[in-house]
Amino acid sequence: MNKTNIAVMISGSGTNLQALIDKIHNKDTGGNIELVISNNENAYGLVRARNSGIRTVVINKNQYDSALRYEETLVEILEKAEINLIVLAGYLAFVPDKILEIYENRIISIHPSLIPSFCGRGFYGERVHQAAIHRGVKISGATVHFVNKIVDGGPIIIQKCVNVDFNDTAESLQKKVLEIEHEILPLAVKFFIENRIRVIDGRVKVIGRRQ
Ligand code: GRF
Repeated sequence: MNKTNIAVMISGSGTNLQALIDKIHNKDTGGNIELVISNNENAYGLVRARNSGIRTVVINKNQYDSALRYEETLVEILEKAEINLIVLAGYLAFVPDKILEIYENRIISIHPSLIPSFCGRGFYGERVHQAAIHRGVKISGATVHFVNKIVDGGPIIIQKCVNVDFNDTAESLQKKVLEIEHEILPLAVKFFIENRIRVIDGRVKVIGRRQ
């Protein structure tokens, strides 16, 4: 089996990156995290990557005088590393259109709610959980999906839910949801590596999985 070269893009603490390092990277899964890209030089995820000997790149749109130059540089970095799969694991910047085109159905992201609830522009970090608590939902969860031009709008690969208790706070809910994120993101990446994901009319079928 050919290795799947993965680029993980992050902006923050990188606990999802850590889950991918622990469950996917250089194991017998056939997946290898070739590089970790961040728009934030202070992201703790960069330290996690370096601790595991993974190459890191810090690249931010603001460093470039044109959006095109930024886009070209990012494409070049990904192509040079022969990346087959991009994983957005808490990446709080926009992915240029060109990359969305080149990597159609090869960019996976994780969102900390059950899409289509509490998602789209402005729903990131603790805000997602604050909105869920405020609305009084009894279940929330996490969604792994492909990325397209619509924010949080790509085909859904896996969802898993958690109960929301009356006494939960945004912080406690975030903790519960993170735990399942660390389960389903590596699982979706594993399905991708095993070439079991099919996108049919905007919906995902995972070969050999009951859903
Ligand atoms: C996670 O909640 C993820 O769903 C969201 O951003 C957060 C990243 O957390 N997209 P971490 O950096 O992986 O700890």
